[in-house]
Amino acid sequence: MNNSSTKIYRKLDLSRLPKHLAIIMDGNGRWATKRGLPRNMGHKAGCENIKRITQNIYDLGIEMVTFFAFSTENWKRPKDEIDGIFNLIRDYMNEYKDEYLEKDVKVMFFGELKDLPQDLTKAMEDIMEKTKNCKKMTVNFAVNYGGRSEILRAVNKAIKGRKELDFNGFEELLYTRNLPDPDFVIRTSGEMRISNFMLYQMAYSELYFTKTYWPSFNNKDLQHALINFQKRKRRFGNIK
Ligand code: IPE
Ligand code: IPE
Ligand code: MG
Repeated sequence: MNNSSTKIYRKLDLSRLPKHLAIIMDGNGRWATKRGLPRNMGHKAGCENIKRITQNIYDLGIEMVTFFAFSTENWKRPKDEIDGIFNLIRDYMNEYKDEYLEKDVKVMFFGELKDLPQDLTKAMEDIMEKTKNCKKMTVNFAVNYGGRSEILRAVNKAIKGRKELDFNGFEELLYTRNLPDPDFVIRTSGEMRISNFMLYQMAYSELYFTKTYWPSFNNKDLQHALINFQKRKRRFGNIK
């Protein structure tokens, strides 16, 4: 991330940004197919877009972003596509770890990480360790993540603990312990579903869907979404 010049649009109020933005990055495959390219080229373009959008988010001053990168259901895909995605994530982390550290950005992963290939978990551990004390911003990646598995895993842990839990106690057992709930969730590609993403944490998130495929989603689209977020009235069950 360079000291780049993310253009800031006039209508965006920088004092009212979401504290935690989450993005369901969908449409890589269709982006590629539309251009006559193999699906993995869509994942490559999508990966490059993570870099650009992270820079934009950083420049805006949003404290935390979570990218949904691979779901527990994505194992249903052909092996070469899955391997391609894992290689891209591994190379991305190895390439940018120093830059994240320089920019004081903490990188975190959550999901069933132990079931991922070793070279990938190694790259994840490296960057998490390197950036663990960074303070300016946190970037999370949900990898081999499923909301239902997360809840089931927490329930099983709770049973082993043999003690009734309150919300705080239960939340401690989720992958996202210590993370605030996402205020705003963007899904690209036109699908209007959450596909097993942060089921517990999204109880009161504001949702935003755009038809744009993830590799084409740019700074302008991001700010358009954020302006939309700023028009929302979050009531949390109250009347005002
Ligand atoms: C999102 O793009 C990336 C992952 C789920 C890993 P897709 O690969 O789902 O792209 P589409 O939805 O098939 O276009
Ligand atoms: C959601 O996209 C998962 C990620 C973005 C990682 P999918 O492409 O897997 O979702 P579905 O299958 O269309 O619901
Ligand atoms: Mg998809």
